[in-house]
Amino acid sequence: MNFKEMIAKDLAAVLGEQLSYEDILNLIEKPKASDHGDYSFPVFSLSKIQRKAPNMIAEELSKDIDTTNYEQIIPMGGYINFFLKKSEVSNAVLNDVVSKKNHYGDSTLGQGKNVVIDMSSPNIAKPMSMGHLRSTVIGNSLAELADKVGYTPVKINHVGDWGTQFGKLIVAYKKWGDEAKVKENPISELLALYVHFHEEAEKYPELDDQAREWFKKLEDGDTEAIELWTWFREESLKEFQKVYDMLGIEFDSYNGEAFYNDKMQPVIDSLLEKELLVSDDGADIVNLEKYDLNPALIRKSDGATLYITRDLAAAMYRKENYDFDESIYVVGNEQSIHFKQLKAVLKEMGYEWSDDIKHIPFGLITSNGKKLSTRKGNVILLEEVLNEAINATQNIINEKNPTLENKEEVAHQVGVGAVVFHDLKNDRLNNFDFNLDHIIQFEGETGPYVQYTRSRCESILRKADWIAPTSEANYSLSDDESWEVVKALYNFPSKVQEAYRKYEPSVVAKYVIDLAQKFNKYYSKTKILEDNSQKDARLALVYSVSVVLKEGLRLLGIQSPDNM
Ligand code: ARG
Repeated sequence: MNFKEMIAKDLAAVLGEQLSYEDILNLIEKPKASDHGDYSFPVFSLSKIQRKAPNMIAEELSKDIDTTNYEQIIPMGGYINFFLKKSEVSNAVLNDVVSKKNHYGDSTLGQGKNVVIDMSSPNIAKPMSMGHLRSTVIGNSLAELADKVGYTPVKINHVGDWGTQFGKLIVAYKKWGDEAKVKENPISELLALYVHFHEEAEKYPELDDQAREWFKKLEDGDTEAIELWTWFREESLKEFQKVYDMLGIEFDSYNGEAFYNDKMQPVIDSLLEKELLVSDDGADIVNLEKYDLNPALIRKSDGATLYITRDLAAAMYRKENYDFDESIYVVGNEQSIHFKQLKAVLKEMGYEWSDDIKHIPFGLITSNGKKLSTRKGNVILLEEVLNEAINATQNIINEKNPTLENKEEVAHQVGVGAVVFHDLKNDRLNNFDFNLDHIIQFEGETGPYVQYTRSRCESILRKADWIAPTSEANYSLSDDESWEVVKALYNFPSKVQEAYRKYEPSVVAKYVIDLAQKFNKYYSKTKILEDNSQKDARLALVYSVSVVLKEGLRLLGIQSPDNM
């Protein structure tokens, strides 16, 4: 059931050679005002061919089109407006949702192929920041969307557990660290050491040399270095896990940068063999001039490898192990050069699949308009934010619905959902400011608003004792308010596909807001529970909205409490 295609066919039947089917399809629009019909076709391009005024053409054509499929076909200026048959369409759409339930909108576009999603990837010994929240929730939503359209997602947490910063941390710990303090409060203590290192290193640059030496020791397997590193890593992962648990997000792999420590030499050998590695002041680089990029630094003069060296090894490892159709990296916009270089080096190495490597960038989260930075200690701690959101939600619930059962669970689902929704409703590339008070409101374009609307649907269904039947029924509705809701429901599958195609969860977030708003309008104008011949169809509509809102939120990684 594709209305655009149906209209294009009916138009093609009367237009003959004048316009191709594809051209017709591309010209069909969805008018903004509902009294202009559900679809409309501009005839201006025909006016040259027919040498007639557009309004004349529209008038004549609309008489010729087969009316079987439409309530009305009305010419208006240079447009032909098509009005669909509300009763038939609502009946078909509602039966479709009621029978498919949460599988409504599923497709097999991906044919089961693997999509590797590099996501979250926080750095050891630093707190997981708001920046990593974006990667985590966008990546998770893309994985859900990939699955919905028929791919097999592989979620990889490329943990930042290797690199010169560990040299810095080891130096800082050995100079100023206190074992008991680190044990008690690992992340904040390690962060404090890291921040202190940067302050001191501004005054005493030799600290940076010491850090480099210690990282080299780590790469060479020095026992003391490895022991400290292992300890920092374990403590950090425990802390990260708390946040993942709160978000309800799991990974298929935690193979981080350190995992590739023994997999880089083959990459370097292969670069040498392909004569791509050039020595530059003792360091090894790959020239990327023809890509208009700075050379990629693969190995420093002291032999130490770099972030990109590990990413090269990781990309190859992933191709070999997952035979991916696509390998996507959900990482901030500020790393776009890095990923361009990564792709370019792989291309130079002759790997065609370098075209399947995609950086999915996103904008910054600011706080009161200011950029967040770990080095300066100016961070918002994700765990704190989530806890604050949960507490604030609990207060709202205590006020609005003091007798609610399992209040704590609901506060968790709503508080965390609010933070996640706020992140995902913005176009991925936009920067946005983080303001908790705005995020947790039950009104406006927020997660709680969508959840609340769905719980309202559930409460109507409970009152009516309505359970979705397993066989087809008559769900014909013809009023204008339900029509807007039915059309929105009809659009869900194509929105899901669009969201995945653009790697843009905000398409789904904006969609659920729109559906919730249209439903609330309907709800305020319709006595759903009134006994009349429409009751069953109305309840099927309520049920369908509930199913689609829940599924939409699930695709964003957000839960839907039945009661709130
Ligand atoms: N750990 C990095 C950071 O926090 C992100 C890693 C992204 N993934 C990758 N394969 N480079 O900036």
